Amino acid sequence: MNAIKTLINKCEIRLDTNEKTETFYKSLRELVTFLFSVIFGIGLYQLSEVDTKYETIVLFLAYISILLSWWGYHWGKVQGPEETNVLCYVVDCLLLGTYWYLINDRYPISNVFRNYFFMFLLYWAWEAIRYLKIELSEVERSKIKKAKITNFLFTLLMIYFLFIIYDKNIGTDNNVPKKILDGSTGEWFLILSQYFFIILYRFLIHKAYKTPKVSAPILEHQNKDDKRLIKEAIAASNNAKAYLSNFNVGAAILTRNGTIFRGCNIEFDNYSNTIHAEGSAISSMIINGGIDPVAIAVFTRSEKLAFSCGMCRQSLYEVGGPNLRVITCNELNCSIKTMEELLPEGFHL
Ligand code: THU
Ligand code: ZN
Repeated sequence: MNAIKTLINKCEIRLDTNEKTETFYKSLRELVTFLFSVIFGIGLYQLSEVDTKYETIVLFLAYISILLSWWGYHWGKVQGPEETNVLCYVVDCLLLGTYWYLINDRYPISNVFRNYFFMFLLYWAWEAIRYLKIELSEVERSKIKKAKITNFLFTLLMIYFLFIIYDKNIGTDNNVPKKILDGSTGEWFLILSQYFFIILYRFLIHKAYKTPKVSAPILEHQNKDDKRLIKEAIAASNNAKAYLSNFNVGAAILTRNGTIFRGCNIEFDNYSNTIHAEGSAISSMIINGGIDPVAIAVFTRSEKLAFSCGMCRQSLYEVGGPNLRVITCNELNCSIKTMEELLPEGFHL
């Protein structure tokens, strides 16, 4: 187990600058997407090859599965952490092979379910790799765990289907593709329930990865930039280490050129070493070479709005000046003030 963990973390490749690493993984993602569309495109040729109802239904099921997975991949890229483990991309390539089989390998029905078995198994492997990474926030880890369990259960379900097929000898007794209307074979039941399970699977995965929704007023009434900044602050608050106070704070600083830097509060056993969300966002901006902050969003899940403390106001005043916009919000309310309003007559040397 430890060897696997070490291997996985070795495959977490980092180049010498963050920018290079980002470009590297972005290219990998684009490559996978490209291969996706190639397989999908070449597969379309199969549409002219089907000649029984059974095959049509199996082929459409394959397309639905692949489309949903493609959508899930992009959805994951936009919403979730960007995948930074090379092994995950290896699994992606194996998955592309499985999709190829889903499209091309339609008979007998045991092959179809064997392919779905491999698909779910690879989904499971993908999440397992992500789960064993060292660098992972608690929130992400718990989401990945849910997804991993879902994948595992669906892999088991496919094994169960394969058992039924072999046990009852469904669709395997001759080489002539059967018409699915031949109800006695049980193919109808198996394939149609697979439609149901594929949709159910996406629904469950979507649920596993869902970030707690933030209620209407705060996001709906903001302009596009503020909305983006608040969302970043919410995401940052999920990474807070606030086990002493249980008060998660997330912050996100926007600089003039549009870059956003996140921060969250971090607590330590001796209490006094606590780092405030605003302070850590400032550090993150400065460490990464960010200049010219124009706005900061600070998010908490508290009932009352939690405005930055006096010390943070001083720091923000010094890095952002009197015109810095400070967006303070919880799930329901939002206040936008300038630094000047929060700290009139701010101190400077
Ligand atoms: N906290 C901040 O992150 N920013 C502030 O300006 C006020 C307080 C955090 C620190 C501590 O982890 C928790 O909130 C409770 O004080
Ligand atoms: Zn503070």
